Amino acid sequence: MPHIGPTKRPLLFFFFLFTFYFPASSQTNRVDSSLGLKDYFKDYFSIGVAVSYQDLHSDEVPLILKHFNSLTPENAMKMGPIHPKENEFNWKQADSIVDFAVRHGMKVRGHNLCWHEYTPSWLFVDSAGNQVTKQALLERLRAHINAVVGRYKGKIYAWDVVNEAVSDSPQVLLRNSLWYQIAGEDFIVQAFQYAHQADPNATLFYNDYNTERPEKMERVYTLMKKLLAEGVPVQGIGLQAHWSIYEPSGEELENAIRKFSSLGLKIQFTELDISIYPWEKFVRKKTETDLDQFTPALEAQQIEKYKMVFEVFRKNRDKITGITFWNVSDRRTWLDYYPVPGRKNYPLLFDTGLNLKKAFWKVVDFKVSR
Ligand code: GLA
Repeated sequence: MPHIGPTKRPLLFFFFLFTFYFPASSQTNRVDSSLGLKDYFKDYFSIGVAVSYQDLHSDEVPLILKHFNSLTPENAMKMGPIHPKENEFNWKQADSIVDFAVRHGMKVRGHNLCWHEYTPSWLFVDSAGNQVTKQALLERLRAHINAVVGRYKGKIYAWDVVNEAVSDSPQVLLRNSLWYQIAGEDFIVQAFQYAHQADPNATLFYNDYNTERPEKMERVYTLMKKLLAEGVPVQGIGLQAHWSIYEPSGEELENAIRKFSSLGLKIQFTELDISIYPWEKFVRKKTETDLDQFTPALEAQQIEKYKMVFEVFRKNRDKITGITFWNVSDRRTWLDYYPVPGRKNYPLLFDTGLNLKKAFWKVVDFKVSR
């Protein structure tokens, strides 16, 4: 061992002090603020965001490019907006979002092909105004899927084929939508078949919410198991992740990941946000306890929830292929309008001024595993 003279000893002391506090293996990402969210998670899963056409023509663009490597069109590809009449398509906004992604080397998740909301008025009726037959409805579904999936073939790597077909009522499996009333369960089966025919290389997802609540989880699982047993080409499950500071628990989240991946399905969290209110789809009124304020206490709870869910995501990286946030920043979120307009929410990682929230730093504050 070489002799180290007294003049060098203080240096040595600082060297040991430094390596004690910052050993290579425990360096956190936090030190590098030039990184975007997607960079922190590059060895884990893609990080996406739902965008509107307007978002991509706004001052949010630099933030979107820095932090995300996947885009989901928020509404532009839903059936009503993109296919307003039987022989008319509105491609402009959807094309523009896909072009933006291609130009910037981002992936695109297509959303969605068949849903009970955002349906165009022509869909369920014939020219005489009568309800269409099952055969006619399925043919319309086929034509729709063929046109939309076909147009973006090779540019959209994954599709939410069927959205929210499971009922909100624990007693029944499937939602009593017009799709279901007219075509029975076949609308689900056929939607996947049509999508697979239109682009055999796209990964096809079933997408739903409240999938970590044990009761709903069981019914979604039952549906997935049945579809797989019938040979339906469903390859992934989209867990929407419209969560709140109150749910899910870590255990519920782990259970859902374990349960759905046991079917061999790829898992993506497709619509992540963490509301500061108890999340309930059927709460219609602004309540007296809604202060519209992002208080320090609410912020602390949100930080903890974000920290926990990303810990669970990272731990399950072998089962999860993507995380997508629903909306870019707290400046505009769908929760500001739902269930009623005017109740401001703060569910994302960027604040109303597009700055990084404290929750952001918690989410990226982990040891880099190489
Ligand atoms: C559902 C849909 C999304 C979006 C959100 C909220 O979860 O899948 O397309 O409409 O609701 O806006």
